[in-house]
Amino acid sequence: MLLGALVAGLHAGLIYNTWPSMDGRVLPESAFALHPWWINFFENAGLAQFDHRMCAYVVALGAAALWLVVRRTEPKGDALRASSNVLVAIVLAQIVLGIATLLNQSPLALAASHQAGAVALLAAGLWNVFEHSRAAPHYTADASA
Ligand code: HEM
Repeated sequence: MLLGALVAGLHAGLIYNTWPSMDGRVLPESAFALHPWWINFFENAGLAQFDHRMCAYVVALGAAALWLVVRRTEPKGDALRASSNVLVAIVLAQIVLGIATLLNQSPLALAASHQAGAVALLAAGLWNVFEHSRAAPHYTADASA
């Protein structure tokens, strides 16, 4: 979400409007054009967009991994499973929405929906953490059995 703020603030949604590549490249050519090098992470629109994309994929992989763990671990509380399902569904929807926003050069309706999607994702993540913490005593009891 913080990287999304950089993308929006630097108007990085108006450049590299291609997916999955960034105008045919994985990393933009001018990703480290500014000096000193570290300033690029905050002020280089191309690198900000690259970071935002990569972190989104990592978040999606993390949500998918958690979903698999919940499916394979006993006991499976209904609420825990539901929260994991919702988390994966929202992260996928958020990525599709982000791509649509990018391909259309950030029209207001899509950009605002993508912002709202981030709030929904945060809420789903918190719900999932809550359900994991509720299930934790059962995991401990199982391990000692
Ligand atoms: C876990 C997935 C993602 C989350 C949580 C997320 C979150 C956000 C947030 C919170 C903003 C708005 C920040 C603000 O207005 O201050 C934003 C903006 C943006 N995101 Fe994402 N994003 C995700 C994935 C993606 C992906 C996969 C893409 C494209 C490949 C993308 C493209 C964009 C673009 C183009 C903007 C700028 C919109 C504008 O110009 O206002 N996002 N993102």
